[in-house]
Amino acid sequence: MPAIVVLGAQWGDEGKGKATDQLGSSIDYCVRTSGGNNAGHTIVVNGEKFDTHLLPSGLLTPGCTPVIANGVVIDPSALFSEIDIFARRGVEVPDLVVSANAHVITSFHITLDKVTERFLGKNLIGTTGRGIGPTYADKISRTGIRIADLFDESILRQKVEASLDLKNHILAKVYNRRAIEPDQVVEELLSYTDRLRPMVADTSLLLNRALDRGETVLFEGAQATMLDVDHGTYPYVTSSNPVSGGVCTGAGVGPTRIDRVIGVIKAYTTRVGSGPFPTELDDADGDRLREVGAEYGVTTGRPRRCGWYDAVIARYAARVNGLTEFFLTKLDTLGEWERIPVCVAYEVDGVTQDEMPMTQSDFHHAKPVYELFDGWQEDISGCRTFEELPKNAQRYVRALEEISGAPFWGVGVGPGREQSITLRDAS
Ligand code: GDP
Ligand code: IMO
Ligand code: MG
Repeated sequence: MPAIVVLGAQWGDEGKGKATDQLGSSIDYCVRTSGGNNAGHTIVVNGEKFDTHLLPSGLLTPGCTPVIANGVVIDPSALFSEIDIFARRGVEVPDLVVSANAHVITSFHITLDKVTERFLGKNLIGTTGRGIGPTYADKISRTGIRIADLFDESILRQKVEASLDLKNHILAKVYNRRAIEPDQVVEELLSYTDRLRPMVADTSLLLNRALDRGETVLFEGAQATMLDVDHGTYPYVTSSNPVSGGVCTGAGVGPTRIDRVIGVIKAYTTRVGSGPFPTELDDADGDRLREVGAEYGVTTGRPRRCGWYDAVIARYAARVNGLTEFFLTKLDTLGEWERIPVCVAYEVDGVTQDEMPMTQSDFHHAKPVYELFDGWQEDISGCRTFEELPKNAQRYVRALEEISGAPFWGVGVGPGREQSITLRDAS
């Protein structure tokens, strides 16, 4: 199985890090293709917890080459501090490969991210403040700075000056902030070049050659389907395409090369930041899900909004990503409820519909239609086979599988690498 995509099927934090790590032992390359250090992926190995933000989670797998492809936006300072944090814990990433075409997040993109959020007031997106939106905006406006530009000082200077020209007017005149000195930005970016140079390559060529040789490439999604700038809850989204289509543009690999597309989905739903969320719980159940599931952001530490499983979103994710399977995570979190509601359809202005509403305003009006399932009320974190799960947990998994639009490949029953149940042979 040479090319596998692992992506988020909800609003992020589904357990993509764990699912990626789960496939780890058989993969040769682990590739990030979109987003930046707005992501926070957790892997727990032998009780030890590791967080990745920009580095692909495959770095914990011996023999797996981590790749940051062209679709990613890179803050070099964040990249090196992440590498250094891993090195201090005894994990080296000597073979990290970075695309020459990836765009660079500079200090002024981070400043702009923060001031625009403040300017939006109560309409804020709730971004991670890592400069993601402004960097992708520059990419699309054709005023971005790419990794390759860091190796030619005069080109870099021209690009930084051109990029800052308009922004400095906006910073000073709209946001009442001090203008940013291009020289300072250039100097900072040049300070990274020596360390960056040996990592830089044509990652599209590298990955296509690997696939030609029959090697296994895993594309590790960041963010998620409902945060996709085209298919998510716009404008409360990130600024990239975390859906499976984004993997092709973000890595320079054609869609015909991809064999499996795995959607990672929680046995309930969470969201960080602003925007609609039909199954959100503003009650004791929501608080309990947050506490039992430890639902606090890996990147910003913000409490995550929590709600029940939403099968309309699951079916939508199966459709827009062409999922071949789902990996269901955090089933163990639901161990204390007597009854577990699952959203099977929406009611929108009095009309029941089982597909995602076409417009965002209809989605804002969507009210969940719930079906109730019997809970199992026991600790399942030690189960390693489907048969070991309590009957009601088995029924819950099978019921979700039936209404979610793609088969379930595995189930997570705890954060640890070994805390998973495989439902079918994926090879
Ligand atoms: P990602 O951004 O999709 O990689 O997910 P995060 O790492 O941000 O959030 C998922 C959290 O759930 C992390 O703390 C994981 O260690 C944890 N996790 C993943 N799978 C499971 C599971 O099956 N059960 C439990 N209890 N925790 C899990
Ligand atoms: P992982 O990969 C959850 C959310 C932010 C905000 C919106 C835009 O760990 O699942 P941005 O900084 O990207 O401009 O913020 O997107 N967001 C995430 N939410 N998990 C993530 O990543 C996220 N990355 C961005 O909270 O609502
Ligand atoms: Mg996360």
